[in-house]
Amino acid sequence: MSPNYYRHDVLILGSGAAGLSLALRLRDDISVAVVSKRELTEGSTRYAQGGISAVLDERDSIESHVQDTLKAGAGLCDPEVVRRVVERGPDNIRWLLDQGVEFTRDAEYVSAGGYHLTREGGHSHRRVVHAADATGQAVATTLEDCVRSKANVTLYEQHIAVDLITSRHIQGHDQHRCLGAYILDRGTGQVETFLTRFVVLATGGANKVYLYTSNPDVSTGDGIAMAWRAGCRVANMEFMQFHPTCLYHPEARNFLISEALRGEGAKLLLPDGERFMPRFDPRAELAPRDIVARAIDHEMKRLGSECLYLDISHRPADFVVEHFPTIHARCLEFGIDITRDPIPIVPAAHYTCGGVMVDHRARTDLAGLYASGETAYTGLHGANRMASNSLLECLVYSESAAQDIEQLMSGHEAPSEVPHWDESRVTEPDEEVVVTHNWDELRRFMWDYVGIVRTNKRLRRAKRRTDLLAQEIIEYYSNFRVGNDLIELRNLQEVSNLIIQSALRRRESRGLHYTLDFPLKDRTQRGPTILIPDSYQPRESE
Ligand code: FAD
Ligand code: SIN
Repeated sequence: MSPNYYRHDVLILGSGAAGLSLALRLRDDISVAVVSKRELTEGSTRYAQGGISAVLDERDSIESHVQDTLKAGAGLCDPEVVRRVVERGPDNIRWLLDQGVEFTRDAEYVSAGGYHLTREGGHSHRRVVHAADATGQAVATTLEDCVRSKANVTLYEQHIAVDLITSRHIQGHDQHRCLGAYILDRGTGQVETFLTRFVVLATGGANKVYLYTSNPDVSTGDGIAMAWRAGCRVANMEFMQFHPTCLYHPEARNFLISEALRGEGAKLLLPDGERFMPRFDPRAELAPRDIVARAIDHEMKRLGSECLYLDISHRPADFVVEHFPTIHARCLEFGIDITRDPIPIVPAAHYTCGGVMVDHRARTDLAGLYASGETAYTGLHGANRMASNSLLECLVYSESAAQDIEQLMSGHEAPSEVPHWDESRVTEPDEEVVVTHNWDELRRFMWDYVGIVRTNKRLRRAKRRTDLLAQEIIEYYSNFRVGNDLIELRNLQEVSNLIIQSALRRRESRGLHYTLDFPLKDRTQRGPTILIPDSYQPRESE
């Protein structure tokens, strides 16, 4: 029996803040599929701690948020994009409130409508609205509740997109266009064919390319790799952000210690208790992330220390517990009482500033394909994302994508058929160890050679290794039935290669890209690093 087609108007790959907010914004008469490779809320969104930046206080201003973002981005932000996103901030926070998100209130913040605002690195005002220290949990669960009750949205959990379907899959199709995706049902092991009018990549970042990361397992860069294979340009992949403070403990996996602690006065300390950040930047602990992470890396290497410390014990214990209940509870599980003890911390890969190039409507280079959230490169973050600007970007670009899709909806039909996934020549995998070994090796050499401090020699060494891995992975991929780990490994290899290529192209140090071979900023290199795939075709106007 030949397999079925799954047909919807819009296919959204990913169910974080970008994917779910888009699904909720689309009109009720549009049939929407949301595909999520694990359970619905498993993604970076759910783990967000600090909050969402927006100008909500009468004493703050759009201009100030714009200037702080531009400064953190080290000269590479697109100023028009920054202004547009910042201007849409307050309305998007109102939209979240309308959906039911309960942000922390504080009667003393009268000029901010009674919402408590915290501060984070790079922000010159208190402008981060939050739900204690578990903002992502509040956003993710609220959006989940809303989307589960929407009749026009079908949810496909435990389904992983393998590749996009484009008009190249159909002979004689005239316009170059995205038509759907091949999607593996992890339950049945079958690759299904989804045919739609529009596809949105909302697959999050690629921080699992590194051995140590604050991100959940799903952040394997799938959307970036799929878009690249489908002929879309990607930009600024060298700017991988390392968060300065992840919990250092042998049993703590991926646990972040929010920058909001520093916003509320926490100090970074050496093992002997000396405060060191004022030596690196006049903004000390509240300097942008690239500066703080590099300072920590420098001090750890100088002292041969396995971790440094973050200390908020000078603040009253009830203040600390009230503002940081999640971090307090998690640290206690490891015997660290943050109201009394300094917290052992290390930097870890946290955020992908680059991604699939999109315009202000979230359109990619391929007609019918959009990208929103961490998977996209919009021009907002430049060489370094400012704290809490990411969730804001997810909301703003999903709002834009929804508007554009609704406008174009009547002009496009999904194709009636395309070839199904061809499994006729593949067999069951014989050596899963190849996948796990390559996965570990990749993440380790990316950490060692393409981390916080780079050199050309290390980058070239990493390039040789990704090239070798590519051969093995392609051979394995071509001969054996695809599974979740193989799909992710293939994407991790592809994205690692894009990061290394971009890092080799940028012959200066700027923002998150620091290389000992070119330690200074070069004022002539003020554009994004754009990589163009061989299959790229300029998009026709619609
Ligand atoms: P995600 O939330 O990561 O969702 C990606 C989705 O795509 C998931 O549903 C995943 O299953 C799905 N997916 C991926 N690949 C596939 C595939 N092949 N097929 C099907 N589905 C797929 N930002 C802030 O602004 N403020 C903060 O306070 C903040 N704190 C953070 C704390 C932590 C610990 C982390 C990790 C990040 C934090 N960030 C914060 C960053 C921010 O959370 C993320 O950038 C943002 O949530 C990304 O949202 P997204 O919707 O793009 O992706
Ligand atoms: C944090 O709470 O430190 C994370 C904020 C962010 O990544 O924007």
